[in-house]
Amino acid sequence: MPLPFTIAIDGPAASGKSTLGKKLADALGYLFFDTGVMYRAVTWAALENGLDIDDEESVARLAQTIDIDLRPPSQADGRNCDILLNGKDITWQVRRPEVDANVSQVSAYAGVRQAMTVQQRRIGARGRVVMVGRDIGTVVMPDADLKIYLDASPEERARRRYQELLARGEAADYEEILAGVRRRDQIDSTRDLAPLRPASDAHRINSDGMDAEQVFSVVMNLATQDDPPAS
Ligand code: DC
Repeated sequence: MPLPFTIAIDGPAASGKSTLGKKLADALGYLFFDTGVMYRAVTWAALENGLDIDDEESVARLAQTIDIDLRPPSQADGRNCDILLNGKDITWQVRRPEVDANVSQVSAYAGVRQAMTVQQRRIGARGRVVMVGRDIGTVVMPDADLKIYLDASPEERARRRYQELLARGEAADYEEILAGVRRRDQIDSTRDLAPLRPASDAHRINSDGMDAEQVFSVVMNLATQDDPPAS
């Protein structure tokens, strides 16, 4: 059985999708593509341009005109890739709290999703890709060869985000982060368009109590075993 040509990883915020996706892509020699950063880049651009985030039409128009590019990392500062907005490096700006607070709303806009989905499908069609997001197995690449839905409790996910921020020397408040995680779960899973939900043929993994290495080993087994049945 050949390796899966396309791998889709979906799940809620901070469930460990990016860590898993990057390790998997490195192990297989595939492209790692974290689609969440595209929605974050649009949100950052909207805030930078002083747009009203409630103004769907203006935000969607902006999404259709800006140039978002993902490149191999140019610096060893913990980044998985460089995120360029119209050529400018915004890799860490897209992780700021004001982006966290607004990205779910921006990513629910039809015009924004349409613009991002077109770009994501084009990259997915080339194959040898691990694509990470919320709707990859359901909407962007419904024919992906291997689909993973990675979950964890809100408390565990907030704890991971909190530790990530502390590790980067940034101020963090656990209760505030937990409230944000819950609020984003609510928006991401109840929106009309491409809501967060597992594809019917996805392998579902709850990573509570598992470290990154254990999750990786479960998924690597799925990727290399013959015709794995979905759980
Ligand atoms: O994975 P993340 O936290 O970086 O995602 C940021 C936001 O983008 C999140 O609120 C959900 C949204 N998103 C989406 O709607 N579809 C995707 N494929 C990826 C992310």
